[in-house]
Amino acid sequence: MKIGILGAGHIGKALARLLAQAGHQVGISNSRGPDSLLDGTQTLRDLAYALGHGVKAFTNEDAARFGELVIETIPFGKYMELPAVQVESKIVIDTANYYPQRDGQIELGGLSQSAFIARHLPRARVVKAFNTIQSAHLESQGDTSRPLDDRRAIFIAGDDQEAKDVVTGLIEQIGFAAVDTGSLADSKVQEPGTPIYGPDLSARQAREALKQSQSQQG
Ligand SMILES: NC(=O)c1ccc[n+]([C@@H]2O[C@H](COP(=O)([O-])OP(=O)(O)OC[C@H]3O[C@@H](n4cnc5c(N)ncnc54)[C@H](OP(=O)(O)O)[C@@H]3O)[C@@H](O)[C@H]2O)c1
Repeated sequence: MKIGILGAGHIGKALARLLAQAGHQVGISNSRGPDSLLDGTQTLRDLAYALGHGVKAFTNEDAARFGELVIETIPFGKYMELPAVQVESKIVIDTANYYPQRDGQIELGGLSQSAFIARHLPRARVVKAFNTIQSAHLESQGDTSRPLDDRRAIFIAGDDQEAKDVVTGLIEQIGFAAVDTGSLADSKVQEPGTPIYGPDLSARQAREALKQSQSQQG
């Protein structure tokens, strides 16, 4: 599958490497474009080359256009810069977490963080995923040789079951197991500060922890 990744930071790089290794065609973007320097010596194009497996550097719009599925993994506060038109009708994986001290004060109007992002991408099929795992663990903990129940859980949420099934497949291809927390509205249960945000749980443990967390929320 062609996958466009918006954001070439910790999570963007990890997902680009893992998904390209798994055989997908991956294009990645950042806020500066393929040829601007990142750190004095390296551009996004250099970074993409170093990721290997044919990963390409794109502008944001081109990455969104390229992807049959698009992953948005930029800081939450930059949501206005996401290319809404180019992702229309596509599955968009939202990895973002809202941290007011980093992202500034944003009025979510009672929405979950991913429902808020989805409102900005009105015709996209948004699935929340990968927000509860640190990038270093994403890089190191996938293991396709393990049975699904024993793999590290990646919590997902969304309103489109077919889109969630596609994302579940990608998660399994890179050695993890998806655990579904429900709709985008329900996805508050996997936001920062919740019991299931962060801990290293197998899928079996994650389903149990999710049940407890949901019953505490009433
Ligand atoms: N780090 C983690 O372990 C982790 C875990 C789970 C979820 N998350 C969440 O995932 C998101 C990304 O986190 P991160 O740690 O990977 O971020 P990061 O390392 O700070 O990188 C952010 C990336 O987004 C790019 N970016 C910023 N504005 C953009 C725009 N308008 N268009 C395209 N690219 C843009 C940046 O490019 P430039 O440098 O060119 O601006 C940079 O490549 C955040 O919401 C974070 O809370 C992070």
